[in-house]
Amino acid sequence: MPDSGTYTEPRIRVDVLFGAAARTTALFDETFWSLRERPKQISPKWLYDERGSVLFDEITRLPEYYPTRAERAILRERASEIAELTGAATLVELGSGTSEKTTLLLDAHYAGGTLERFVPFDVSEEILIQAAEAVAARYDGVCVHAVVGDFEQHLSSLPAGSPRLLAFLGSTIGNLYPEQRARFLSRLAGVLEPDDRLLLGVDLVKCPARIEAAYNDSAGVTEAFVRNVLTVLDRELESRFDPAAFGYEARWDAEHEWVEIGLRSLRQQVIPLPALDVEVAFAAGELLRVEVSSKFRREGIEAELAGVGLEVGEFWTDPAGDFGLLLAAPAASSSETR
Ligand code: SAH
Ligand code: AVI
Repeated sequence: MPDSGTYTEPRIRVDVLFGAAARTTALFDETFWSLRERPKQISPKWLYDERGSVLFDEITRLPEYYPTRAERAILRERASEIAELTGAATLVELGSGTSEKTTLLLDAHYAGGTLERFVPFDVSEEILIQAAEAVAARYDGVCVHAVVGDFEQHLSSLPAGSPRLLAFLGSTIGNLYPEQRARFLSRLAGVLEPDDRLLLGVDLVKCPARIEAAYNDSAGVTEAFVRNVLTVLDRELESRFDPAAFGYEARWDAEHEWVEIGLRSLRQQVIPLPALDVEVAFAAGELLRVEVSSKFRREGIEAELAGVGLEVGEFWTDPAGDFGLLLAAPAASSSETR
């Protein structure tokens, strides 16, 4: 695989905006600073190496992990309506992963006769290519233009192809901190053309016990997924974290309305990071925060979108009201002034 640039396989074009070298530079830069913060943290995008992507896929099938099933139920019910409302020629999917649920959207747009191109966009090249190949094999005549990129950095390089539907599913937006989310949404609004639409999946605030159970599954898959970040750090930073010296934790934080997910140091320890030429000291009981998973309220996310000039037209939920899927458009005045 080239480190950056474009390569083409039969019926699939791949733009690599975030290749191995860029990824290593970003990981070095980010962890150098984020392991000095309080709490110490790691960006969740480093969770998705090949093994991490496989473990996330397993998470989506766990009995306790309701978000994927709930969002799929909404998509099953609404995909045709979405295809009619958007008439999209290009379906872009940010943080696409396996694009498994996206098949429902692709089917509906394909049946509607508008679909010309699918643009899966993900930081994880392995899973992206597998998904791109599966889509290319399933839909005759649809171009697949995959982008290996970071949606916090590379939105301005999204392929054109009006009208576009930008799907950001799975509540991955909840893994961004509020300030990051505001920056991301503002950039996203900036790249939307007047005819483009945003389809955003958000996990909704609900009984904390159900939320906590979704991140503390009895099979331990979520724990393995989060612990995998230590393997990623060992590989990239030449460290030797002792997994037994950290306990897994995922707790509902009622003030921020997010699940705080991380690894708590079980003893005082110093970890050398040879690739960065630094050491990181953990106190006994200190948290390495790996991820937050924010949960949303309809009014809150609608206000955030309005703040960046996006107007929510439809807001659907599954029958239990666990998950929300919204369709938003550039507000008339903001698209006129662009
Ligand atoms: N959309 C899928 C997958 C969600 S998992 C679903 O709904 O099930 C989150 C996905 O986002 C992973 O595939 C991960 O590799 C990707 N991802 C995480 N951070 C990213 C970033 N900054 N830029 C691009 N992709 C990112
Ligand atoms: C991708 N993202 C929305 C998942 C979530 O629910 O926050 C990631 C995850 N982490 C642990 N389990 C699932």
